[in-house]
Amino acid sequence: MSERTLVLIKPDGVARGLVGEVVARIERRGLKLVALELKNVADDLAAKHYAEHEGKPFYQSLLDFITSGPLVAAVVEGPRAVGAFRQIAGGTDPVDKAAPGSIRGDFALEVQENIVHGSDSAESAAREIELWFPGLS
Ligand code: PPS
Repeated sequence: MSERTLVLIKPDGVARGLVGEVVARIERRGLKLVALELKNVADDLAAKHYAEHEGKPFYQSLLDFITSGPLVAAVVEGPRAVGAFRQIAGGTDPVDKAAPGSIRGDFALEVQENIVHGSDSAESAAREIELWFPGLS
């Protein structure tokens, strides 16, 4: 059964010219892009996206980072898309958790500047897709 997930190529990924690399890995895996947009993120969208992390020590830094420059937001579709993209991305910590061959394992060193975001469950995906692409059917 097909599902959808929200992918962000974060400001570090865009600044480093990794958009094509990330999109190629998504497509090579067999997942399909159903929406894609380069955008500068407003403070209120950033706060809604990361609402679950409010109160954590890195929360403000996360908001500052995600609004620091243009990012690419995308909706990706395919069988088990949520888990498949998280596997392609690698673990949040690029050194301790992301395997070589994953996006973070190949291109990142920091927990915050880790190139991509992917929804962590089907429920999060539905919430995040409505936030970033309202009305997308
Ligand atoms: S946690 O600690 O379980 O909430 O972490 P996780 O769900 O894996 O990460 C959530 C997002 O927060 C970012 N993050 C951090 N940023 C800065 N400093 C620290 N220590 C830190 N820990 C986690 C991480 O990049 C995740 O961003 P997204 O965009 O969700 O991938």
